[in-house]
Amino acid sequence: MQIVAKTFHGLEDVLAQELEALGAQNIKKVTRAVEFEGDKKLLYRANYELRTALRILVPFYKFRARHENHFYKKVSEFDWSTIISNHDTFAIASAVSSKYFTHSKYMSLKMKDAIVDQFRRNTGDRPNIDTQTPDRRFHLLIQEDRCEIAMDSSGDSLHKRGYRLNALQAPINEALAAGMILLSGWKNEKTLLDPMCGAGTIPIEAAMIARNIPPQILKERFGFHVWKDFDRKIWDEVVEEAKERTNQNELKIQASDKDPQARHYSRKNAMIVGLDEDLNFDRKDFYAVEPESEEGMILMNPPYHERLELEDAEAFYQEMGDHFKNKFQGWTAWMISSNKDALKKVGLRPSKKYTLYNGKLECKFQKFELFKGKRLDFLKSKS
Ligand SMILES: C[S@@+](CC[C@H](N)C(=O)[O-])C[C@H]1O[C@@H](n2cnc3c(N)ncnc32)[C@H](O)[C@@H]1O
Repeated sequence: MQIVAKTFHGLEDVLAQELEALGAQNIKKVTRAVEFEGDKKLLYRANYELRTALRILVPFYKFRARHENHFYKKVSEFDWSTIISNHDTFAIASAVSSKYFTHSKYMSLKMKDAIVDQFRRNTGDRPNIDTQTPDRRFHLLIQEDRCEIAMDSSGDSLHKRGYRLNALQAPINEALAAGMILLSGWKNEKTLLDPMCGAGTIPIEAAMIARNIPPQILKERFGFHVWKDFDRKIWDEVVEEAKERTNQNELKIQASDKDPQARHYSRKNAMIVGLDEDLNFDRKDFYAVEPESEEGMILMNPPYHERLELEDAEAFYQEMGDHFKNKFQGWTAWMISSNKDALKKVGLRPSKKYTLYNGKLECKFQKFELFKGKRLDFLKSKS
C-alpha cells in the first residue's frame, strides 16, 4: 500500500525517522509529508504511534485533467460504491496548485457532484455531506493536471491527543511539541525543563515519549474503523503490542509557569493520561526557577508578543538570556518563537536552528549552549 503521512513544515525528518523505526519501506520525504509503503498493520500503527503525523492518507485514484468537465468525468469513472454506501456521510478536503484549476473549494464541490450523481443514477439515492464528523474523509490533491484522491485513515487530526481539555491562551500544537522534543534528541537521560509550560503540553508529550506511551492512547475513533476492509484482529494486536512496549521509567521532567491556572490545568491534563502522580507542575516565575541538576535541557515556548502580549518583548527575551547564562551553565536551551527581533536579544549564538510553523506563524526553533566560561574553550572541549 502507498501511504502518505502529513506533518508540519520542518518536521519531515523526524517523521521519516519515526516511520523508519516502525519498519516502513521506501520512505520518501516531500513537503509537509512523508510517503512510504506498508501493509494494513503499518497503516494502523502509523495512526496509533506516530507523534509528529497529523493525518495518514491512502491515495487510491490518480488521473490527469485540465478542464472541469474532464475532471468530473474522471471522478465519475471510479466506482464509488466499492468505498462508500448511500447511508454514509462524507467530506472532501482539497489542496490545489494548478494553472488549470484555481479554487480548491470549487474542485471539492465538483468531486462531490460526481460522486453524488453516480449514486443517484445507480440507486436513486445519495450519500450526504457532513463536514464535522463524516464517516469518510477524502483528500483531493491537484498539482497542475495531476489529480490524486486519497482516503483519510485518521479521522480527526492526530494532533488532538485528547488530554488537553484545559488550555490557557496560546497553547502549542501537540504534534509540534512532540516534534520539538524529538528534534532536540532528548531521551529522559537528563532533566527537561519547561519553565513556561502553560497547559503542560511540552512536559506531557515529553513524558509520553519517555514512557513510550502511544500518542493516540485516548483516541477511540479512527477513520479506518469504518472502512469496509477494517480488520479488528490486526487493530487489537496493534493496540495490545503498543501498550506492552510502555514502561514506568522515572521521569526527569521539571515544569512551571507563573500563571496559577497553568498549574491547575496542567495537572488536570496530565491526569487524563494517567501521568499526574509523576509530573510536577510548579507555580513559579521563570526568574525564580533554579536548575535541579548539573546538566539538563530547557525546552520552552515563551510568549511571542503575538497571541500573548508582552510589555517589552525584546527586554523580556534579554532577561531570559541573562537568566540562562547566570543560572543554567552547563545546560542547553531550546526555544521556539516567531519573534525574530526578540530572539536576537537572548544574546547567545544559536548552535542549531530550525524553521517551524506554530499555526500560521513562522517560527525559529533554536538551540543555545549555556557553557561555563568562554565560548572558545567550550568549542575546543567539544572538538
Ligand atoms: C505561549 S504560552 C505557553 C503555552 C504552552 N506551551 C502550552 O502548550 O500550553 C507562554 C506561557 O508563558 C507563561 N509566562 C509568561 N511570562 C512568564 C514568566 N516570567 N515566568 C513564567 N511563566 C511565564 C505564560 O503564563 C504562558 O503560560
